[in-house]
Amino acid sequence: MRFFQLDARLFTAAKLARRVVDQRLGRSRPLFATFFVTRRCNVRCTGCWYYDVLDPALRASEPDTATALAILRRLGEAGVPVVQIAGGEPFLRRDLATLLRAGRDAGLSVAIITNGMLVSAAALGAVDEACEWALYSPHVPEELAPENGQRQYEQGWEGFRRMRRALSRPHLACAVTVSRLTVPRLGEILGRALAAGADSVKFQPVFTPALFPSPAEARHAVDVMGSFQARYPDRIAVSAAFLSRFAAFFGPAPTVACTVRRFFHIGVHVDGTVCACCPMDQPLGSLLEAPLETLLARDVAEHHDCYGCQRLDIVQALRLCGAEAPASAAGSVARRLRARSLSVVGQVRE
Ligand SMILES: C[S@@+](CC[C@H](N)C(=O)[O-])C[C@H]1O[C@@H](n2cnc3c(N)ncnc32)[C@H](O)[C@@H]1O
Ligand code: SF4
Ligand code: SF4
Repeated sequence: MRFFQLDARLFTAAKLARRVVDQRLGRSRPLFATFFVTRRCNVRCTGCWYYDVLDPALRASEPDTATALAILRRLGEAGVPVVQIAGGEPFLRRDLATLLRAGRDAGLSVAIITNGMLVSAAALGAVDEACEWALYSPHVPEELAPENGQRQYEQGWEGFRRMRRALSRPHLACAVTVSRLTVPRLGEILGRALAAGADSVKFQPVFTPALFPSPAEARHAVDVMGSFQARYPDRIAVSAAFLSRFAAFFGPAPTVACTVRRFFHIGVHVDGTVCACCPMDQPLGSLLEAPLETLLARDVAEHHDCYGCQRLDIVQALRLCGAEAPASAAGSVARRLRARSLSVVGQVRE
């Protein structure tokens, strides 16, 4: 089992390394795609970006298996290394198992992100078989409806424990969105994630200014993450460099310039619409009507007031693909990717 796992990870690392070389040579090819397989969700978290910025017509679209399979095939044909299955809540799709296996068969390295509340044995079997990463996002009662937030929070953790029991193959991460609503519970969340057997815990600074922690809360978050990192260096996926700039992520202007023209991370909707980046909704056209390469040749606008690129995966992608290092360093890029054990796949919250 471990051999196959290692093999799959090395294969993914090789695909990513090739994309890094492309990027260094000035070809803006995506490293990751997030496929929003449904707009529906069983809860409505305060500040959920994915409800707030998207076209209401897409929220209403009915999931369709044939269309989703065609999208996965197109992403595979376009050589996108990693696809994250997201939503809405992906476990609401009855055909989730079919989609995950189809993604793997299309040559994609598949990740899935879930709120954990609806995980089912059948779908988890397919996650175990077809995914390289499974990410659980804890949603605290303060983000959820007051009347049943506590129950849903516990339901999420119960789902996470079921994921741990069911999954032997994928890397199982807890993906924490750091906001003013989650900071007060950060220590509790990290303790529960580690006790439940998370392989790693990752952190996503919230994109929405209304949910930014205060400077004191941000400093508290850095202290908590730093102390857990010191105790569990292999399981808390945050570097000293990321921690040192963490509080500044919540300042009056974004600290990571818009990377939209690099197409590091595209978003794909359930109707085939490709967006220039994830999370912002910048539609380029349909993957079902034109090859990805054609869509990516279209011009896109930079956003100077968007905080969406302040995330571990983009910060790492920038470092790996940045203009500062020589384009010829293919071997050294591959070595650095292997050494990082694919930690570049952050959240890939997506
Ligand atoms: C949109 S959800 C989709 C999958 C699933 N429903 C879940 O919650 O994991 C994917 C991730 O985006 C994060 N997210 C939602 N709104 C966000 C925001 N405004 N800023 C940063 N991350 C956000 C969520 O916390 C979650 O980890
Ligand atoms: S569970 Fe995920 S998709 Fe649903 S509202 Fe919360 S963050 Fe958004
Ligand atoms: S800053 Fe915003 S608009 Fe620009 S690439 Fe990042 S997420 Fe997209």
